[in-house]
Amino acid sequence: MKKLEERIRACRKCPLGELRTNAVPGAGSYDAKVMFVGEAPGYWEDQKGLPFVGRAGRVLDELLAEIGLSREEVYITNIVKCRPPENRDPTEEEIKACSPYLDRQIDIIRPKVIVPLGRHSMRYILEKFGFEPEPISRIHGKTFEARTLFGKIVIMPMYHPAAALYRPPIREELRKDFARLRALLESSF
Ligand code: SF4
Ligand code: URA
Repeated sequence: MKKLEERIRACRKCPLGELRTNAVPGAGSYDAKVMFVGEAPGYWEDQKGLPFVGRAGRVLDELLAEIGLSREEVYITNIVKCRPPENRDPTEEEIKACSPYLDRQIDIIRPKVIVPLGRHSMRYILEKFGFEPEPISRIHGKTFEARTLFGKIVIMPMYHPAAALYRPPIREELRKDFARLRALLESSF
């Protein structure tokens, strides 16, 4: 994983590589049971080279703390590892260029649960494991069981924490979904 993170930090496979300050490979345990997958780094993530360290990151920290999980015991990353200008959505081409890194991270960590945060991540992860993407408003907090060469992975899509910043009802849904994640971890793993 260390080698892979180095490769990501030096990557120039897509135009975002020319625009970034720092690539953001991901952070946390290489042995994590739970992997969170966001969309792409924002301003602070690009400055620091770490995932979810801006305002959305504070929301994520609160949600994790509420269910007694620390950042050190999970792994947090994004589908796209370099910041898109003005925080625009990543393009299909950028996702295509960058997602092999995420695929490799999943193979290395072999998580029991993957939590895609937001609809781009939800779409990529569900399609990767052979599921039809659906509107995030309909499927957040639901579970999809994927079979892999190294066993079962449960996918539980959730809203993106940034969507909760100015929308209390979304934050409430996220809190409920995190409670579901806690229950899943207690019952299954
Ligand atoms: Fe490489 Fe991904 Fe950064 Fe593009 S976004 S330069 S593919 S690490
Ligand atoms: N939003 C994301 O999707 N990822 C980050 O790392 C930060 C904000």
